[in-house]
Amino acid sequence: MAIKKFNFYFLIFFLSYGMLIPTQSLGNICLPKEHVALFVFGDSLFDVGNNNYINTTTDNLANYSPYGETFFKYPTGRFSDGRVIPDFIAEYAKLPLIQPYLFPGSQDYVNGINFASAGAGALVETHKGLVIDLHTQLSYFKNVKKILREKHGDEETTSLLARSIYLITIGSNDYFVENSSIYTHKKYVSMVVGNITTVIKGIHEMGGRKFGILNQPSLGCFPIIKAVINGTKDACIQEYSSPAKLHNTVLFVELQKLEKQIKGFKYSYFDFFDLSYEVINNPLKFGLKKGGVACCGSGPYKGYYSCGGKRAIKDYDLCENPSENVFFDAIHPTESASKIISQFMWNGNQSIVGPYNLKTLFEG
Ligand SMILES: *[C@@H]1O[C@H](CO)[C@@H](O)[C@H](O)[C@H]1NC(C)=O
Ligand SMILES: *[C@@H]1O[C@H](CO)[C@@H](O)[C@H](O)[C@H]1NC(C)=O
Ligand SMILES: *[C@@H]1O[C@H](CO)[C@@H](O)[C@H](O)[C@H]1NC(C)=O
Ligand SMILES: *[C@@H]1O[C@H](CO)[C@@H](O)[C@H](O)[C@H]1NC(C)=O
Ligand SMILES: *[C@@H]1O[C@H](CO)[C@@H](O)[C@H](O)[C@H]1NC(C)=O
Repeated sequence: MAIKKFNFYFLIFFLSYGMLIPTQSLGNICLPKEHVALFVFGDSLFDVGNNNYINTTTDNLANYSPYGETFFKYPTGRFSDGRVIPDFIAEYAKLPLIQPYLFPGSQDYVNGINFASAGAGALVETHKGLVIDLHTQLSYFKNVKKILREKHGDEETTSLLARSIYLITIGSNDYFVENSSIYTHKKYVSMVVGNITTVIKGIHEMGGRKFGILNQPSLGCFPIIKAVINGTKDACIQEYSSPAKLHNTVLFVELQKLEKQIKGFKYSYFDFFDLSYEVINNPLKFGLKKGGVACCGSGPYKGYYSCGGKRAIKDYDLCENPSENVFFDAIHPTESASKIISQFMWNGNQSIVGPYNLKTLFEG
């Protein structure tokens, strides 16, 4: 009797252990050689709930309704009606949803982890004290490596980190807070991109090799910019996109330099500027209906950042069917737009992503 009971509990333990950590065997805790993890760095485009666990303001939070209303049915901290880009990339890579690093409790990192924080920039000064800046995200990654080594040993960890993908989107917040009376724009861009390359080198020193990097989107087409600049009928305000354009030119050059400088560096540079411009201005081409107006917010283009009514402006409207819109709130894409972006990142051709797309990076 007693022995049978023991076996029964052992079986339950074995099953749940196996289900929680499907990629490792119990004996030698070896990971299959084809197993690739996904590590995510960035800002609100990629945040899946880290900011729920820091002291910040409602500007940097999406843990209230109607955020999350479509897919999860409750607010998770994602700045979307549903899933965000890293959720789709994980799905395409046949990984489970990648959890936020700050989610309480012990975690297993064999599938990767998400460090992204809404409001974060490449510069530590950007929203300082209210966000997890990119350098702090790197220091969290160092901690993750330490824990992986304790559990899986040096060899397994080195091999896993070299196979894994490091997805990064950062910079928009640096440009949102840019103060042109301190630095010239050219100098500011070189600082932002300089700090991005510093962090890429930092990840490379820890053993990372394969990077997926987004450039800056066409910010001048965002409802928040159009609402503040006041009612032209134009879809986009070109001069508000030019800061992003210089960033993208400099970033592109720096990535090519890194390829020559650091060993084994492989990257996927995604032209988010071009795709965002296209989707916002030709939503029908992508199966969407409304490109320039947000689903949730108030004011012109629903461009006031008031979705949920917990920020400075309390008034907001919510559209009936977010899946028709490119923008959920004044800044962030809907789940359906995030899915379109993710598909191009995953298997887009050289006109939008290169030298590799994410699919080829994951495979090789
Ligand atoms: C959180 O931030 C607020 C406002 O910035 C501050 O007054 C408060 O002391 C902070 N709390 C903690 C626990 O750091
Ligand atoms: C920009 O910087 C100048 C010079 O340091 C300062 O006087 C000004 O208050 C800053 N403006 C903003 C909006 O931070
Ligand atoms: C990184 O940003 C800081 C300001 O936060 C700046 O002083 C530094 O020069 C930048 N680093 C690079 C490599 O550009
Ligand atoms: C925008 O227009 C409104 C009314 O049409 C006006 O009150 C406001 O001052 C304008 N804002 C800017 C930045 O021009
Ligand atoms: C790349 O894909 C786009 C559509 O996604 C297509 O219009 C274009 O012709 C393709 N270019 C090449 C070189 O295959």
